[in-house]
Amino acid sequence: MTDKKLRSDRWFAPDDLRSFGHRSRMMQLGYAEEDFVGKPVIGILNTWSDLNTCHSHFPERVKDVKRGVLQAGGFPVEMPSLSVDESFTKPTSMLYRNMLAMEAEEMIRSHPLDGVVLMGGCDKTTPGLVLGAISAGVPMIYLPAGPMLRGNYAGKVLGSGSDAWKYWDERRAGNVTDEEWQGLQRGIARSAGVCMTMGTASTMTAIADALGITLPGASSIPAVDAEHQRMSAACGRRIVEMVDEKLSPDRILTAAAFRNAAIVAMATGCSTNAVVHLIAMARRAGVPMTLDELDQLGRVTPLIANVRPSGKDYLMEDFYYAGGLRALMKQLESRLDCSVITVTGRTLGENLEGAEVYNDDVIRSLDNPVYAEGSLAVLRGNLCPDGAVIKPAACDPKYHVHEGPALVFDSYPELKAAIDDENLDVTPDHVLVLRNAGPLGGPGFPEWGMLPIPKALIKKGHRDMLRISDARMSGTSYGACVLHVAPESFIGGPLALLKTGDIVRLDLPQRRLDMLVSEEEIARRRAAWQAPPPRYERGYGYLFSKHVTQADAGCDFDFLQTDYGRPADEPAI
Ligand code: FES
Ligand code: MG
Repeated sequence: MTDKKLRSDRWFAPDDLRSFGHRSRMMQLGYAEEDFVGKPVIGILNTWSDLNTCHSHFPERVKDVKRGVLQAGGFPVEMPSLSVDESFTKPTSMLYRNMLAMEAEEMIRSHPLDGVVLMGGCDKTTPGLVLGAISAGVPMIYLPAGPMLRGNYAGKVLGSGSDAWKYWDERRAGNVTDEEWQGLQRGIARSAGVCMTMGTASTMTAIADALGITLPGASSIPAVDAEHQRMSAACGRRIVEMVDEKLSPDRILTAAAFRNAAIVAMATGCSTNAVVHLIAMARRAGVPMTLDELDQLGRVTPLIANVRPSGKDYLMEDFYYAGGLRALMKQLESRLDCSVITVTGRTLGENLEGAEVYNDDVIRSLDNPVYAEGSLAVLRGNLCPDGAVIKPAACDPKYHVHEGPALVFDSYPELKAAIDDENLDVTPDHVLVLRNAGPLGGPGFPEWGMLPIPKALIKKGHRDMLRISDARMSGTSYGACVLHVAPESFIGGPLALLKTGDIVRLDLPQRRLDMLVSEEEIARRRAAWQAPPPRYERGYGYLFSKHVTQADAGCDFDFLQTDYGRPADEPAI
């Protein structure tokens, strides 16, 4: 027995019946007392599953993590965690982010763990794990899955998501043969790892990196690179030291760290989803981040990662070879608070020492950005009193100020049926609207916001139009899409009152989104509005619909937010 104070001592150290039980059960696994008693016990929360194609290398990587933990004198325990995957989960993975957050928090709290390694990467796994670990409060380090290799078909480089949308539109226009379509299907995802555009996954792991909760630059390492294995072992070694140093997440996740992460997100081109997750994570950490603060940073932060979809030419593999996130942060050094502490125990400034850009077309300098500003803009107006977001850099500038008649759909199936009608009465000036697609309406806030362009317009060569919804969109999407309209229509937000033919006006420089309908008429429509029936009457969906907050508040559950009641006690006996 040891006198070094560890959280796990409360399970393993006392000479009483309960601890006898705990020790004997560890011995059932074939371990001797000296393997685990008095050693930092490291939980490895592994979000692997056969259906999480982005994490297919995790069964191998977890061995590297364990090796690192053992080398440093800790005791590793793997804990399979809810594997929220982006590819298959219906209606949407977002429905389950908070379920993973709850699971991670409770699994950590209820077990003899002194520190945790969080293994995630596919979109919602990063915020899910981090939200839970923030609330659990034990030392933690995030191990990002890393991006997959570049896509490739017939000499063409393919980017996750972006090229699927692009070639689908071409196929609908009759420009892609069956054989080519098959080839694209084979080539667009060809190794372990997360989507290799700067989609939600790579945005969120970059945010984790910028927050200081990964090893420096870990987020950029391709999943199948041997460096990824070495990084995994290093995570194992480092978390053991962090336990000794009592380097808990509250010391790292400060207001300054979140501001740094938001600046880095804007400079990478930033999936719109990042807004929702950043706000949720910041608030869990007691930092009251708002949409307006993010808009402010979006206005002044140049986009310097030339990575698709916001950038033109490159993918995450190129970004890594160009120096990766450390090199990007080095460019931004003057704008970041470099005094913040990170999982290395050193400051951000120290972690960036020696970082270099190896290709200045991929990672641009501040005076040669891809866009001077505009990763993200937050709109307000009579259609979105609590905000909406748009990615100016990813849409045709001719839509930045636009007026046109609304074409409104109440559900995705209704929209889908109309969109392929070649005789649909629609012009490029129309504003396509989908509602009932928000956190409660979707349900679960699905990624439907890149509404398909009507076939009637595709055939005439149009590839963009102004689109509005209370949905999210994939981080790999692009186009003039206004998203996250809050409050959502399903709960009576003003989008519910819009009618086909009403004129909608977007004024991006002024950050406005309005329907040009008189206040009296809006009031009349509001009085006549009837709430749709609830989506769920039992199960997890019911819990979700009772407690999820709106997009502008990060879609956390109200009861999981940090200021909701007193914190849970550590288990007493
Ligand atoms: Fe997993 Fe895109 S599907 S990151
Ligand atoms: Mg995605």
